[in-house]
Amino acid sequence: MADETDQIFNPAQKVAKVSHCSSMEQYKQLHEKSLKNPEEFWGEIVKDFHFEQNVTGKFLDYNFDTTKGSIFIRWLEGAKTNICYNCLDRHVAAGRGDQVAFYWEGNDPADVERVTYAELLKEVCRVANVLKAKGVAKGDRVAIYMPMIKQLVVAMLAVARIGAVHSIVFGGYSADSLAERMVDAQSSVLITADAVWRGAKLIALKEIVDDALKICRSKKLDVKLSLVVRHMRTVTGPQPATNGAANGNPAKRTHFDDQGNYKVGWDSNVDVWWHEAVEGASADCPPVWMDSEDPLFMLYTSGSTGKPKGVLHTVSGYMIYAATTFKYSFDYHPGDVYFCTADIGWITGHSYVTYGPMLNCATSVLFEGVPTYPHTGRFWEIIQKYKVSKFYTAPTAIRTLMKFGDDPVKKYDLSSLAVLGSVGEPINPEAWLWYYRVVGDSNVSVVDTFWQTETGGHVITPLPGATPAKPGSACFPFFGVDVALLDEEGREIKGEGEGYLVFRKPWPGIMRTVYGNHERFETTYFKKFPGYYCTGDGAKRDKDGYIWVTGRIDDMLNVSGHLLSTAQVESALVEHPAVAEAAVVARPHSVKGECLYCYVTLAEGHSFDATLIGQLKTKVRGKIGAFATPDYMQLAPGLPKTRSGKIMRRVLRKIAVGDRDFGDISTLADPSIVEVLFQHRPQEGKV
Ligand code: WTA
Repeated sequence: MADETDQIFNPAQKVAKVSHCSSMEQYKQLHEKSLKNPEEFWGEIVKDFHFEQNVTGKFLDYNFDTTKGSIFIRWLEGAKTNICYNCLDRHVAAGRGDQVAFYWEGNDPADVERVTYAELLKEVCRVANVLKAKGVAKGDRVAIYMPMIKQLVVAMLAVARIGAVHSIVFGGYSADSLAERMVDAQSSVLITADAVWRGAKLIALKEIVDDALKICRSKKLDVKLSLVVRHMRTVTGPQPATNGAANGNPAKRTHFDDQGNYKVGWDSNVDVWWHEAVEGASADCPPVWMDSEDPLFMLYTSGSTGKPKGVLHTVSGYMIYAATTFKYSFDYHPGDVYFCTADIGWITGHSYVTYGPMLNCATSVLFEGVPTYPHTGRFWEIIQKYKVSKFYTAPTAIRTLMKFGDDPVKKYDLSSLAVLGSVGEPINPEAWLWYYRVVGDSNVSVVDTFWQTETGGHVITPLPGATPAKPGSACFPFFGVDVALLDEEGREIKGEGEGYLVFRKPWPGIMRTVYGNHERFETTYFKKFPGYYCTGDGAKRDKDGYIWVTGRIDDMLNVSGHLLSTAQVESALVEHPAVAEAAVVARPHSVKGECLYCYVTLAEGHSFDATLIGQLKTKVRGKIGAFATPDYMQLAPGLPKTRSGKIMRRVLRKIAVGDRDFGDISTLADPSIVEVLFQHRPQEGKV
């Protein structure tokens, strides 16, 4: 394997031949220009978009250095535009209204739909008018909690059209998490759906929303509108009775009436059916022209304190960056069919399901389901069906599907594929090679795209027509991104080496603030190394200058591509009365990348048994969401703490994997606790 990771894979000929950037020389020239003269570089790109008013002030103005004052980033001062107009009206006006924007594939393969740009524009205007009629205005935060359906795209574009700010909460989050985000953003309007099937599982979205709204009310947030898409009438699903059983949750059957119709609770003061509201609404709604630095959306990401951060992106910079990264990283051309499997509830879905593709007038597949339902070849079946040429997924999905061997892939004709993308966590070379060889038949370019909710779009990525790729490396910075590696003292590491991954300059897509807490923005990303944006990831640079992102170097962990903070999980655990203290670390996992390993110290009079372990898992699921369910729980009679009381997490990470190579533990207040914890390790495969 060591040899293979050193191997270099040249861009596929078929990609390079037509590429927007087809050699490393061209990449280097463009990259250099983007750093030396951002105004000229991005100024060219800006011409492709509709701006109601051009730049009147500085093209770029910023401060990255906390010692020189407050951090700020401003692009395209004085310009006015609307991202929804650029995603829809611009293409319709250019005669491309009849082009399919999305092929929708439901959870059940029989549920399919297609929607054109012109149809979307009408639907977006109707919803925008519904929101306006309910008093939603520029700057208002609208929460969105929806499955992967066309209406989710419509909702976000409608919000953007009228200058409001969308705050999308992933549909796998719990009521607590949804409420916490709505309260933080003070979102008094919510757009949701009745329910959705995810594989054989029913997710009762409206029920979760009802619980969340109760919590909002108790926190003095008065939600005035919950706009509900009736989705269960339009989709087929496994029959309720069998499905209740499949869920292992017969209670779910109570959601259906005798005719098999899905039932929801209804509060007519707040709840409005989407289909009833749009029926009478006008399909004409002029866009609100926004200043470049007006907020476009916020999206919560985990923070090391446990309280999620509302990452805020603004209109113009995000727009040109999402569009440009989409065009170059996937080498998009008209005629391509593009398929990104990410949920819109995460940043990947924002930038590379909705905005990036739509700004390029692309045709995409929008997929509601999961990779293994109703069979493990679902992705490949979809690729064959729509002749997908550009495909984008996560290492955790690749690893899940690898387990079923090559046969489910080989059943399908995947010869349309040209570019395969990966995102969300470091991709192990084994998964990279399987993706390239088995899925791509060694005739594709693989792009391992590194980026974050905060960066808005790809910041380190190969370009598929230009970059010779090394499996496991995200390769080189995108245009406008100025990479440095720093040592602990903040000195730049030149040439080969490993350190903190930071950026020296702002690119257009960088976040502008943490909603309602600019100080937290400065502290989290800029305080440690004044003059740099700090990613929180470590990286190494090899002898050829390739960047290899090694993973988080803070208290964050990455479960199946979902970032979580250890503090967030710990605070859920300690809410249980039996828990006196908890410490959570990441443990490597063959499919999820990382999983949660929890150490719990009990309060007097409680015992660590299967019931308690079950309750603790439920607690975490309830506070955060099912994707955060811990894999390991271990009793900790004590925790390894330094004399100043700080938990030495590296020791806990070692114990989690059964490794006794602890390094120096002499600073522990009680070094004997390490052996005690070792003795309490759960047996492999058990919790
Ligand atoms: C990790 C997801 C290595 C990284 C777009 C980052 C990656 C965090 C990669 C952001 C990659 C994402 N290689 N690590 N290609 N892509 N990461 O905000 O730790 O959900 O900081 O954004 O995911 O996660 P987020």
